Amino acid sequence: MARKDLAQAKDAKKDEFYTQLSDIEKELIHYRDYFRDKVVFCNCDDPYESNFFKYFALNFNALGLKKLIATCYDGSPIAQQELPLFPIKNDTPTRKAYKVEISEVPDLDGNGARDLTDVKLLLKSSDHNVKAELKGNGDFRSPECVELLKQADIVVTNPPFSLFREYVAQLVKYDKKFLIIGNMNAVAYKEVFPLIKENKMWLGVTRQGTGSMWFKVPSDFPLKSGQKTENGIRFQTIGNTAWYTNLDHSRRHEELILIKHYTPEEYPHYDNYDAIEVGSVNDIPCDYDGIIGVPITFLGKYNPNQFEIIDINPHFFTVVGQGLPKPKQLTLHNVGQKDPYARILIRKKH
Ligand SMILES: C[S@@+](CC[C@H](N)C(=O)[O-])C[C@H]1O[C@@H](n2cnc3c(N)ncnc32)[C@H](O)[C@@H]1O
Repeated sequence: MARKDLAQAKDAKKDEFYTQLSDIEKELIHYRDYFRDKVVFCNCDDPYESNFFKYFALNFNALGLKKLIATCYDGSPIAQQELPLFPIKNDTPTRKAYKVEISEVPDLDGNGARDLTDVKLLLKSSDHNVKAELKGNGDFRSPECVELLKQADIVVTNPPFSLFREYVAQLVKYDKKFLIIGNMNAVAYKEVFPLIKENKMWLGVTRQGTGSMWFKVPSDFPLKSGQKTENGIRFQTIGNTAWYTNLDHSRRHEELILIKHYTPEEYPHYDNYDAIEVGSVNDIPCDYDGIIGVPITFLGKYNPNQFEIIDINPHFFTVVGQGLPKPKQLTLHNVGQKDPYARILIRKKH
């Protein structure tokens, strides 16, 4: 294999994180009202493996969906080989990309309920309106996947981490509602931070942190810390995983209760930026009206009616037109403290 192909294959492997149904349910419960009569697109989701597909297929009627579309990427090293949700014997595994479109979940087994068996029977169906091969490889940027995206009202998935910037840029280009999983570090990307700052995208409800979400990974996934094996299946947790969305939820309207008062002794001023350092979100002083540097975890508690976001540091984006100097790495040398790690610069609203 050429060096470039090898590197691509290695990157593809790093993207093989499979979200558990319980994590999807925990987050999706906060958005149920958005889905009535909507077309949902899961565009990095092999229906045979993806719990996103499973969630929406099982809840198709309860949510009142109009249509569910899922596409499979043929670059997936595990396409229909591992982690099968629906191990259907007669369905020969292929690595072909295909799409599944569901406009109803009928009671196919006639047992009075519309359940997993009905979804399995639907997937087994030879009806080309339900399941059809794609002409291309199922890349979310391919013309046929973009055509499906145009039909969609809401996109829900865990896209490949390595393509997160492009993925978000495409959702924005086509003006889609979305609920997707990403890495918290992505907030500093120049394609992402402006969206957060302008309240066009925010974090979901479920809190992040190590151990908050465990993803299934293939058995040959690189060994790293934060892994466990249960019933022969390997799981990986990532400390800074987050849901990103542009669907409103009540959590982002909860006011952060501020109990501390500002003193220059407790809140050092940066050497090179007109802002104070606040090392913990709970310590934001209630009576400081200038700019405040807080850890990025602030975004999990960010209420846009209470605060405005000014910038991020280290940053790839600078606010234009506010007359602020472009912040370099924030330092606290003058007060003899360690330089802070990544900070969001915020200001309280009146
Ligand atoms: C992080 S995994 C998540 C899989 C699934 N959405 C889930 O949460 O269980 C990302 C998936 O995107 C697929 N993928 C990688 N590159 C892709 C691309 N360019 N277009 C579409 N899918 C891609 C990977 O094969 C992988 O299955």
